Amino acid sequence: MLIHSASQLLTLAGGPQRGARLGELGIIEDGAVLVRDGAIAALGTSADLRLQYKEEQQLDAQGKVVMPGLVDAHTHVVWAGDRAAEFELRLQGKTYLEILEAGGGILSTVAATRAASVDDLVAMARPRLQRMLAHGSTTVEAKTGYGLDLETELKLLEAILRLDDEGPWELVPTVLAAHAVPAEFKDRTDDYVNEVCARMLPAIQAWWSEQAAGRPKPYVDVFCETGAFDLAQSRRILETARDLGFPLKIHADEFDNLGGTGMAVELGAASADHLVATSRAEIAALAASDTVAVALPATPFGLAERDYTPAQAILEAGGLLAVASDLNPGTAWGESLQFALALACRYLKLTPAQAIAAATINAAAAIGRAEQVGSLELGKQADLLILEVDNYQHLGYRFGTNLVQRVMKQGSFITETS
Ligand code: NIG
Ligand code: FE
Repeated sequence: MLIHSASQLLTLAGGPQRGARLGELGIIEDGAVLVRDGAIAALGTSADLRLQYKEEQQLDAQGKVVMPGLVDAHTHVVWAGDRAAEFELRLQGKTYLEILEAGGGILSTVAATRAASVDDLVAMARPRLQRMLAHGSTTVEAKTGYGLDLETELKLLEAILRLDDEGPWELVPTVLAAHAVPAEFKDRTDDYVNEVCARMLPAIQAWWSEQAAGRPKPYVDVFCETGAFDLAQSRRILETARDLGFPLKIHADEFDNLGGTGMAVELGAASADHLVATSRAEIAALAASDTVAVALPATPFGLAERDYTPAQAILEAGGLLAVASDLNPGTAWGESLQFALALACRYLKLTPAQAIAAATINAAAAIGRAEQVGSLELGKQADLLILEVDNYQHLGYRFGTNLVQRVMKQGSFITETS
């Protein structure tokens, strides 16, 4: 199929965009893209490609923007229950970490998730993924972390793999067994860290080689934060994971600076996420590495907090910046990555072009998929969006509505959206 007459075809060609390079959209005016066997087979102007591919099925983009599918590099999309009551507590002044300390927060979602079956979890996550896809997210990272015991963490992984098989979205799994200290280990964090390192991660590795052989290994992530895991505990978990051959991620500096970002860089993590309270020295270390800084502006917004990721400092230092949704029931229940881009423009001071690159090619780098998705280049997957607007600047500028008109995943248009 030849998709032609795009007012702006955003290719995002040329790989992940570091520092001041962020925002190179690689625009082809009046652009066209040829899709064959689920992949990009040619790119150019409409005039050239319509002449060259006359026999091909034609689709007129009618003067709208065509761009790569969005990549949501940080989500907790699979969970049971909700935290609506806790939201009201927070409005009355209780903080997120106070609620967690009192056994609520993540732990209340853990209780609901442990009680759910794999079928339940799949059924609950599916409509969220449908909404994400309808809003343009064609590739989605998905974390476990609401199990906090081996059985439930495996149940979450199974749900993620099943949802990935089901498609049309593509999921990239992450094991977040160290998301919080479960109730049965209250005040015994080190014992839980032992459990994760000595039992859970090796068992998950064995399960993966049996159940998911041939798939890329999941990431292992840890919530390095006051009230969750301190720096030494986070290091034990990540080093154990690394030694087992898992690629790494970290939740760091969401509230307090514990040194998690610097450690993630040292350990060669693919990404360090949140990065609100990150120190200058760690920003410099990050910028000198290939670890992607994943900003999650829907989280401070969702918690009504003032501080956001120091994106400008990260870019000035030459870092790789991505923006993701952090979709989760506690801090940021919002499926639309477009909304996170709108926040990123306002609070991270990104231009729409920078926000778009941060949620496509750089986001793909954060989940190790920059060779497959995140840009429209020859041979890459035909994951693309036709917007309802004729200028990319509307992304980030407008919010609360969906600017995506059509979504193509691996060469097929999605028909059912919700
Ligand atoms: O990224 N901070 C830890 N994890 C999530 C929140 C999860 C939850 O509250 O359920 C986050 O914000
Ligand atoms: Fe998160």
